[in-house]
Order: sequence, then structure tokens, then C-alpha cells
Amino acid sequence: MVRKIVKLGDEVLRKQSKPMQKFDLRLWLLLRDMAETMYKAEGVGLAAPQVGILRRVVVIDIGEGLVELINPEIIAMEGEQEGQEGCLSVPGRRGVVIRPNKVTVRAQDRNGKFFELTGEGFMARAICHELDHLDGVIYVDKMEYEVFDEDEDGEE
Ligand code: CO
Repeated sequence: MVRKIVKLGDEVLRKQSKPMQKFDLRLWLLLRDMAETMYKAEGVGLAAPQVGILRRVVVIDIGEGLVELINPEIIAMEGEQEGQEGCLSVPGRRGVVIRPNKVTVRAQDRNGKFFELTGEGFMARAICHELDHLDGVIYVDKMEYEVFDEDEDGEE
């Protein structure tokens, strides 16, 4: 089921999300809906608060397959990159944000099993962007400047 995406200005986007404790059907339905919602909106990532659920759950697909991150934490980062970002909660806007070039995240999968994932370049950017949502941070808080051209990359 495609869910409604919460837009900038809604205070739910500014709240701290809580850890997921149960890895059950309720979570799996949320993950399914989040992926459906992300694909329908042609985004490359979506965090649970963006569908009004204050839980530490993220889905990402930058074109390399669906990644589900439950209770993710960045455990290492390296380098720096400057690039454009958008957000499904901030439609029609883009901005340049400086992010680490490489991040390693420790997270749980849909069954609660811990794993580590390293992303570089755009994947590192997507991970940082989505994890920020879990702490109520939106890319516009961090952007160097807004971009006004018509370029369309994926929105997160
Ligand atoms: Co976003």
C-alpha cells in the first residue's frame, strides 16, 4: 500500500524516531509499504518518519537493489563529497550538501539480524540523508546552497 508522504513543515519530520524492537509482520508491512511508496514517487530512499511513523526504519534503492536498514548507525566515515540532494518530503527543491564520501553502517535486517554495509559516493550520500531523517534532520538544514536548475536526479 502506497502511503502518504509527509511534507516539510509537518512537525513529525522534526521528531526523534524510536528504535524498532519487534521484527514481526507489522514491520514487514511497513517495509513493504515504504518500498512501494518510494518506487511510486521515484525516489531513491525513504525513512519511516516520512510516512508518519517515528521508528528507525529506512529503505534505499539507488538503482542497485532494495536495501532495508532497521536501527541503523553509522560506525565509520571517510572523505568528503559535495553534491546535489533532493527529498520526497521537500518536493521541487534541490540543494548542494557536503557529505562523507564513504560510510559504514551497522543495522539490523527485517529479522533482527545485525549486519554491516559500506556505501561510497551516492550510496553514502543516500545513507546519510535517510539516517538524518531518523533524528529529525532534513537536508535543507545542512545544505550549502539551493539549486534552481531543472536537473532531475532521484529524490530521497
Ligand atoms: Co529525505
